[in-house]
Amino acid sequence: MRHGSQAVLPTLRTERLVLRNWSDADLDPFAELNADTAVMEHFPSTLTRAESDDLVEHIRHQAVASGFSLWAVEVAGPGPRRHGPEDSGPGFTGRTGFAGFTGIIRPPFVVPGRIDAGTVEIGWRLSRWAWGHRYATEAATAVLAAAFERFGLVEVVSFTVVDNLRSQAVMKRVGLRRTPERDFDHPRWEPAWGKELRRHQVWSIDRAAWEQSSVASEPQ
Ligand SMILES: CC(C)(COP(=O)(O)OP(=O)(O)OC[C@H]1O[C@@H](n2cnc3c(N)ncnc32)[C@H](O)[C@@H]1OP(=O)(O)O)[C@@H](O)C(=O)NCCC(=O)NCCS
Repeated sequence: MRHGSQAVLPTLRTERLVLRNWSDADLDPFAELNADTAVMEHFPSTLTRAESDDLVEHIRHQAVASGFSLWAVEVAGPGPRRHGPEDSGPGFTGRTGFAGFTGIIRPPFVVPGRIDAGTVEIGWRLSRWAWGHRYATEAATAVLAAAFERFGLVEVVSFTVVDNLRSQAVMKRVGLRRTPERDFDHPRWEPAWGKELRRHQVWSIDRAAWEQSSVASEPQ
């Protein structure tokens, strides 16, 4: 890997996932998912190998600068509590290994009054084989806990195009709510992207709402 600094992301563990630092072995499967037109449906284009590697580089630099970033998500296996020893419980694909990323990052642009220099965004991108198993929701729940408890953030936002219903469903599942007054036209939009990639919905959760929802979801 070409980065000059060590990443400093703490490892986050969930029932089925490990959210960890990026390794050189992730570059091949990450380039593969970034070249998948289904995964990149709601982005201006798929990524070349060089663009995919540069994104990992950027992610690692953000980790060094802020202590958080987009974690590499690894499917470790079925959780011990939900599934039997035969590893065939509901929600487990049987496939393990690097599945993509989930994490928090500062957006690379500012939209005055909506996305400012201090805004932190939560985001996710997984390989097709990892969709449909609640992995993004599981990873994002752990990332939100880290955002508020470990990194002391006061608010986390997420934004996406109107058509990206799968991403909006994850936002909703992890407790984010629509803040339509903050919706914006992407400042880097150009006609070649197509008009459906222009308008972005903003969803958000603040610390108080997160504390309330995490208390509400604790087992009694
Ligand atoms: C956005 C993305 C991460 C969502 O992945 P996902 O698998 O749909 O989301 P989740 O992890 O929350 O899983 C939900 C799925 O798990 C299923 N599921 C399995 N067990 C479940 C359970 N116990 N409870 C609820 N849902 C469960 C749901 O039915 C749902 O699948 P379905 O939509 O096929 O019905 C994925 O589509 C992706 O990587 N997209 C491309 C990148 C992208 O657009 N990123 C966002 C940019 S803003």
